[in-house]
Amino acid sequence: MAVSILDLSALHEPLANQMRETFNNILATSQFVLGKYTSDFEADLAKACECKHAIGVSSGTDALIMSLMALDIKAGDQVITSPFTFFATGGSIARVGATPVFVDIDPVTMNIDPNQIEAAITPNTKAIIPVHIFGLPADMHAINAIAQKHGLHVVEDNAQSVGARIGDKQIGSMGDIGCLSFYPTKNLSACGDAGACLTNDDKLAEKLLSLRLHGQTSQYQHKFIGGNFRIDALHSALLNIKLPYLPTYNAARRSNAALYAQKLADLPINLPLPPEGYTHVYHQYTIRVAQEQRDGLVAHLKANQIGFGVFYPTPLHLQECFAYLNQSQGTLPHSEKAAKQVLSLPVHPLLTEAEIDEVCDVIKDFYTQQV
Ligand SMILES: Cc1ncc(COP(=O)(O)O)c(C=O)c1O
Repeated sequence: MAVSILDLSALHEPLANQMRETFNNILATSQFVLGKYTSDFEADLAKACECKHAIGVSSGTDALIMSLMALDIKAGDQVITSPFTFFATGGSIARVGATPVFVDIDPVTMNIDPNQIEAAITPNTKAIIPVHIFGLPADMHAINAIAQKHGLHVVEDNAQSVGARIGDKQIGSMGDIGCLSFYPTKNLSACGDAGACLTNDDKLAEKLLSLRLHGQTSQYQHKFIGGNFRIDALHSALLNIKLPYLPTYNAARRSNAALYAQKLADLPINLPLPPEGYTHVYHQYTIRVAQEQRDGLVAHLKANQIGFGVFYPTPLHLQECFAYLNQSQGTLPHSEKAAKQVLSLPVHPLLTEAEIDEVCDVIKDFYTQQV
């Protein structure tokens, strides 16, 4: 049986009529950008994320860029982040003219290791961007304590982990600004590109709203140089149809992960286990296998039509475009090792137990062939 990594058509099927009706309404009003659908979505998103302000934007990447702009981060500044992430995290730092400083990950959580952050702080450091990778929160309490001690800003890259928690606190609004992505594969997804910034700070919210509109403060009056970071009405409206289901989607991902944890327990692979008190939302179910076996297992999954992903095969400090940083091979060993071992399995909310059994049987079959 083929098992796909994601089934968006099935996810949208029960909502399709409502989504079509909404599209027709927007077509009829011709209010295509921002407007009431956006402000309604922003109010509901802020409530769902347990934070004061949510500002819809054009993508998760633009949310990061706009956040750094709102905090006045620019050429000559350094921003500490994880190298084990999607390119947008490091790319956004460089695109505002600042310098990314990559700090190695914790080998178990694969999130930035707070114990290594202080050694990377210089007089030019202005911010830390923890990435909540694959649905698991980074250690925000430790990161916020370091930021406070050194007077740094914290921008959470929460593109992958909307709804995740540390204790009773939802991540995304634990730092100065949290950045969400609604790219179609995300836990809460648009029918195209969209994102949002979250903040509890009224002044930052006001600046973010202005930066979204080219730094405009009143019509055609520009206090800042911002950009076109606007979200479309259609994305806002469709996202707001799906938003109430986010807790159900995330709970389904967690129960799929629990089934994998039972069924794969006896194999020589490392399974993702959240630290005590952390609520993982399993944007990806990412296992770690011996690096000399990953190519073989990938080929075996392909041959058996099991969807998978390798997120991410090259950490950011080893990307050609960041060679100027001189963080060469061997400098961030845990990130480099993770990149060679990770393998993400299907975990989407509509996955059935029969499909999980199929994935696990194919993996077990691979290991049986190895002995
Ligand atoms: C960790 C991380 N940061 C940032 C982004 C950028 O989001 P977007 O693709 O919406 O621009 C993504 C999305 O892929 C991501 O996974």
